[in-house]
Amino acid sequence: MTETTVDDSQRTPLVVMSGVNKHFGALHVLQDVDLEIARGEVVVLIGPSGSGKSTLCRTINRLETIDSGSITVDGRPLPAEGRELARLRAEVGMVFQSFNLFAHKTVLENVVLAQVKVRKVPRAEAEQTARTLLDRVGVGAQAEKYPAQLSGGQQQRVAIARALAMKPKVMLFDEPTSALDPEMVNEVLEVMRSLAAEGMTMVVVTHEMGFARSAANRVLFMADGRIVEENSPEAFFTAPRSDRAKDFLSKILHH
Ligand SMILES: Nc1ncnc2c1ncn2[C@@H]1O[C@H](COP(=O)(O)OP(=O)(O)O)[C@@H](O)[C@H]1O
Ligand SMILES: [Mg+2]
Repeated sequence: MTETTVDDSQRTPLVVMSGVNKHFGALHVLQDVDLEIARGEVVVLIGPSGSGKSTLCRTINRLETIDSGSITVDGRPLPAEGRELARLRAEVGMVFQSFNLFAHKTVLENVVLAQVKVRKVPRAEAEQTARTLLDRVGVGAQAEKYPAQLSGGQQQRVAIARALAMKPKVMLFDEPTSALDPEMVNEVLEVMRSLAAEGMTMVVVTHEMGFARSAANRVLFMADGRIVEENSPEAFFTAPRSDRAKDFLSKILHH
């Protein structure tokens, strides 16, 4: 392979959504969404409740199918099913508001499991990776405990470690701190900030405007299934252009 080829592949966006439409019955939840996410880019997605933020995230790892348009990850269209789909889900890590850990498995096992099952990593290697990642998110000492024995912030960090164990190309975070007690929000945002600093490509749905300002390369504002506005965090927060964005910001910043 020539150097030019390598450079070209690095220049292509990691995620491309093009003309994406999605309905839930009569509800048009994603309306002609076009979005390109560069490698290493951190995109924060904000907007009112019901605007389609979660649905947009979920289409990227095909937790939701789309009605029309196309989505590619690393140049490849999303696979419809089977082993290819399992691999896509590994490449596109997702962290939800609810931590979704397996309650009857230890923290360590939670991070080991998919590596062994999906990636076919030998168990000893999977455990080593899990311990390294648990250390990195600051919960290494909790490895033998069960999720219910951990705080919400610790559980969410385990969920992040579990996603990272699959060596994802992109990480989607859907309101990862919304279910946490306030004193635990920062420990999760810190882990996300360090991931961003290390070059992870990330899409983050969040109401944490401090995180958006400090970690995002770009802010997208969604309303009624459309990306209404996008800008650098600085420009977006100091000078939103649309009335919808101004109205939304006045509500969340002055409550
Ligand atoms: N599985 C579903 N079935 C029917 N309607 C849904 C489903 N998921 C989401 N919706 C609706 O789609 C719209 C967008 O939802 P969502 O993507 O969750 O918005 P957001 O994350 O911005 O709050 C909302 O009106 C919501 O009620
Ligand atoms: Mg949502």
